[in-house]
Amino acid sequence: MDKMKPLRFGVLGAAKIARSFIAGVGPSEFVDIVAVASRDLAKGQQFANELGVPHAHGSYEALIDDPNVDAIYVPLPNTLHAEWVIKALNAGKHVLCEKPIAISQTDTLAMFEAARRNRRFLAEAYPYRAQEQTLALRRLLDEGAIGRVQTVFACFGVKFADPSNIRLDPERGGGALLDAGSYATNMVRMVAGEKPSRVNAIARWAQTQVDLTVIANLEFPSGLLGQISCSFNTAYHRHALIAGTDGILETTFLNSPPDAGPPEIHVRRGIPATTVRETITLAGGNGFLAEAESFARAVALGPEHWTGSTEQESIETIATLEAIARSIRSGNWENV
Ligand SMILES: NC(=O)c1ccc[n+]([C@@H]2O[C@H](COP(=O)([O-])OP(=O)(O)OC[C@H]3O[C@@H](n4cnc5c(N)ncnc54)[C@H](OP(=O)(O)O)[C@@H]3O)[C@@H](O)[C@H]2O)c1
Repeated sequence: MDKMKPLRFGVLGAAKIARSFIAGVGPSEFVDIVAVASRDLAKGQQFANELGVPHAHGSYEALIDDPNVDAIYVPLPNTLHAEWVIKALNAGKHVLCEKPIAISQTDTLAMFEAARRNRRFLAEAYPYRAQEQTLALRRLLDEGAIGRVQTVFACFGVKFADPSNIRLDPERGGGALLDAGSYATNMVRMVAGEKPSRVNAIARWAQTQVDLTVIANLEFPSGLLGQISCSFNTAYHRHALIAGTDGILETTFLNSPPDAGPPEIHVRRGIPATTVRETITLAGGNGFLAEAESFARAVALGPEHWTGSTEQESIETIATLEAIARSIRSGNWENV
């Protein structure tokens, strides 16, 4: 990336996660955060001052029209992703959109169509996908380290109880499924390499009527079976267990290891219960930095340089989440 000009990012909304994104990409030579926008200019200016961002806009429109901005980072409530991603693409910006990319497959298809129409790069932000831990996991699977994958389980649980949090608001795309569940589903979809054909699921509900805890079974056309669990009512946990015909992989899928544990993968290459468990230790580091630099490489050099969720994976992840949401309510298997 030696001759690359830094990609100039603008941040849409003074969101909590934007603080982590801006701090994370701070050391990059390849990405500059040049502006932020808030619906409230004073809030935006304070946010910019605190985080060392050179410019604040008092409207989202002003940011997406800013000629000094090449790309927009979208950390808005889930229900606003589609609208602002499409507006930013139509204004000629590349877009890195927080997960879940949208609240429906229909919206997601429209977003990628806008990217194609405007010849701009759009990607969904899952920092774990830029981590060495995930890249090594994908290599192990590709090499056949555990044979043919038969089952994959991914879970992500955290605790959110403050009713003012957008995650507990049904009007702003709240619920554990779209939040933590999008991570677990994206992980299972990545390992499977295909879209599930059908799903079934059960849930527990928050007082605000969003789903609080969800477990879902996923059936894949290849015969692989998957399961995800996600919750806003547990202690922090986030890992995956992948079982193949000839071995087992156990891993966390962390955004910025070692903040929530070491970046390790545990492998058992063999069938008997006595098979030795190997620990592979990878490099960690800030996931927002790795993700933003991968995004900048994709913009400068081509989409094959993006290590994150592909267009197809993002579309199939949201399609799966929608089918899980339908199954929670219907009590039936739902086609994806
Ligand atoms: N990748 C990850 O690991 C990760 C982690 C956390 C969050 N996220 C994602 O990032 C997004 C934001 O999450 P967050 O926790 O950072 O949210 P947040 O702190 O509540 O911030 C959301 C921002 O959206 C803007 N906004 C515009 N319309 C709004 C409305 N009607 N209600 C509330 N806010 C509104 C606000 O900015 P202004 O007031 O400045 O306009 C607000 O600061 C979500 O999509 C979430 O899933 C991803």
